[in-house]
Amino acid sequence: MKHFLRDDDITASQQRMLLTLTDELRAAPTAPLLATPVPDLTEATVPRSIAVVFEKESTRSRLSFHVAITQLGGSPVVVDSQTSQLARGETIEDTARVLSGYVDAIVFRTYTQERALALAHAARVPVINALTDAFHPCQALADLYTIAENFGSATGRTLAYVGDTGNNMSQSYLLAGALAGLHVRVAGPPQYQPAPDVVARAAALAKTAGGSVSTTHDCRAAVDGADVVATDTWVSMGQQDGQQRLRDLRDYQVNSDLVKLAAPHAIVLHCLPAHRGEEITDEVMDGPQSRVFDQAENRLHAQKALLAWLVAGHGGPAAAKEHLSK
Ligand code: CP
Ligand code: NVA
Repeated sequence: MKHFLRDDDITASQQRMLLTLTDELRAAPTAPLLATPVPDLTEATVPRSIAVVFEKESTRSRLSFHVAITQLGGSPVVVDSQTSQLARGETIEDTARVLSGYVDAIVFRTYTQERALALAHAARVPVINALTDAFHPCQALADLYTIAENFGSATGRTLAYVGDTGNNMSQSYLLAGALAGLHVRVAGPPQYQPAPDVVARAAALAKTAGGSVSTTHDCRAAVDGADVVATDTWVSMGQQDGQQRLRDLRDYQVNSDLVKLAAPHAIVLHCLPAHRGEEITDEVMDGPQSRVFDQAENRLHAQKALLAWLVAGHGGPAAAKEHLSK
């Protein structure tokens, strides 16, 4: 069973295929890849159902998965854990077994990576990570697509991520960026560093793909000459030490002085939601280099590719093209 729980659950060539498929599906928004023909009934199809389960808040992931599944001819079942028996302590394993009898895949947003893994281990259908404390691989895929959209390809470009380098976005940029052959520099205070095993894994992937990864406490050095400047909230969902974090991270703001150090053609990314005036200024967020709203839209396109491949079992762009031309 193939799951997408972290960025390196796919190979570099699968990542390239998904980015190409993203382009194909963007051009054909209503491809019925999640509708299964009913045998012996001409033209009749049954939608594949996909559960989208949230144990944390969401705007973009909730909406983009719902719309992606619908546009592919499937049927989304979006559930908040607070309104399900998960809130009363039904185990994640039992929940996985039950959902596997109803749906063709489970999209899951939760706290620990271990909880997402537990769901996947007990499930009989593919599980997609829609954010854990450790990784946000669907966002990173959309971001690679956004980078490719602007520069032709992400390979060989330099991405500087500034802020909480221990959070899900930083760790996903390290892994997904390394797979894509990006040069990924992450800059944050010493107490908010990525996990050493993630950095080591990213370094190994980067070596194969021709990119590199580095960690630093110096955000100006990280941004120097970069093609992409990325940031994220200083206080992620579930973190209790908000006031302390705001103090510790205040020198890591993405503002116009910092962006000036990047390449003149640099673009600015933020997965959103943004805390304007904290990790990013209005001037940068609304400025000409910002691509944050393209990035949000690209969640839809990239997730359609992911669903088409993981759930509908599509072999890649050629298979998708063949299907689309029918
Ligand atoms: N970027 C992102 O995942 O946004 P949501 O939390 O709104 O889903
Ligand atoms: N790091 C943020 C990302 C939100 C999409 C969080 O986990 O809250």
